[in-house]
Parts: sequence; structure tokens; C-alpha cells
Amino acid sequence: MRFAFFGDVVGRAGRQAAVKHLPRLRSDLKLDAVVINAENAAGGFGITRATADELFEAGADVLTLGNHSFDNPQGISVIENEQRLLRPCNYPPNTATGRGAGLYDIGGFQLLVINVLGRVFMDALDDPFHAVERELSAAPLGDVADAVIVDIHAEATSEKQAMGHFCDGRASLVVGTHQHVPTADTRILVSGTAYQTDAGMCGDYNSVIGMEKEEPLHRFTTRMRGGRFTPASGEGTLCGVFVETDNKTGLAVRAEPIRVGGKMLSPHVPQL
Ligand SMILES: [Fe+2]
Ligand SMILES: [Fe+2]
Repeated sequence: MRFAFFGDVVGRAGRQAAVKHLPRLRSDLKLDAVVINAENAAGGFGITRATADELFEAGADVLTLGNHSFDNPQGISVIENEQRLLRPCNYPPNTATGRGAGLYDIGGFQLLVINVLGRVFMDALDDPFHAVERELSAAPLGDVADAVIVDIHAEATSEKQAMGHFCDGRASLVVGTHQHVPTADTRILVSGTAYQTDAGMCGDYNSVIGMEKEEPLHRFTTRMRGGRFTPASGEGTLCGVFVETDNKTGLAVRAEPIRVGGKMLSPHVPQL
């Protein structure tokens, strides 16, 4: 099986990069499935029905979220009703809306997607390792699931690497999101799980993690708020990870970064 995961789509620049590049990538890389983190898709914070649909129409099969899941009030009903949209699985039990993992039949493959939030330098949520263990054991790789993707939405590289090793041999891919910068550590761990600490964002890299530079610079240099964060609107780069798995085991046989479009990052597209 071949699939791709793309990091946080930030605003219109990120959505337009998906619309522009994803259809061609899907066909050139013969992708069976595409998963995208969409926590910043609507104006930089949260999601709406229209922004989710734009990404589904561009070629996403499943969307994940993060610490901004519930930022846009319009997104709550989408999280409630859209089975292809996941929010992190380690919110407290009283977070009644949405789901943190899903098993999807995509072109005959059973794909398990798990979305989880880290706790280091983040909100104090339930134990992400315990939550991922619960979801992994509900649909084991190579038995129930043909492939398993774990999106660990976290600030600390240590927590993300720990999650990679925790899932090694039990997931096809563990990939980080939230940092909005792609890391250069794409690899396959010792027991066969593909791993990258952060997928990077889909958005305009002439920015501070996807936002126009002025307000972040103002806040860093004055410690005062000057206005609102606005998503940067230059040409976006699509950033993610390409994985090919063994159809019997569901483990990774190939993992490579994807960087397409925009002018700020060196491009990289895997060749089949
Ligand atoms: Fe994000
Ligand atoms: Fe985030």
C-alpha cells in the first residue's frame, strides 16, 4: 500500500497548495490513501464544513486535528458529524463530540488513523501513550488493519520520538504535527514503523509558522499584543511524508519526505 500524510494546512495558502498539487501527487505516486492534518485550515485556527470539503475534494481521505480542534465554533458540528474527520483521542471522557481514531475502508484497504495530542509544553490532557495503546489494540496492524497512521500532535521532539518507538512494529507510520516545520529525520524504525518527527505545514513558509510575520515579531519584541494573527497569503508549500508498506505485514518498506510548491523550501518528490 502507498499513502501520504501531510502536515498542518494553514489557511487559504495551505488549502490552495493542496488543491494545486495533491491530485497530481495522488496519481504520480499511485497513492491508495491520503491523510491531512487540518487543525489550522480555517483562517489559521480550526476547521469549517467548507474548508474540510475543499481538502476532501483535493484528495484527502481522512483529516486530523490538534490543539486547535475546537477553535472555530462552526467546526464543532463537523467534528460531530463527519466520520472522516478526527480530533485527538486523549481528550477527557467528557469531551462528548467527535472521535479520536477511525478504521476506514479505502479502496479495499483497512486504514486505521489515530490522532493524539502530546502533553509536554501543551495542555494537560489524558496520557497519550495509554490512549494510543487502546486504539492500536482495537484494530491490530496486519490483522484487522492493513495500515496504521498515528498523528502525534505535539511540541516536544522527545515526546514524538518516544511515541514512534512506543508504536514501532505496530504502526505503519508515526508522524508528528503541530511544529509547522518539516524535520529531516524521515526513517524506518527498527521494527518497521516509518517515522518523521514533524511533517511540516502546508502553507506559506515566508512567515512565522504560517502567519504573517508582523504580529509575531511585534509580540516577541515588545511582549505586547498588536493585533490578530493572520495566515500568510503567499504561495504555499505542501509538506508531508510518503510511505510504502508491505501488504502482508502493514509495516513500512519505504519512507520519504514530500515538499512541493512555493519558493522557500527545497523541493522533494519521491520517484516511483
Ligand atoms: Fe498547527
Ligand atoms: Fe497545533
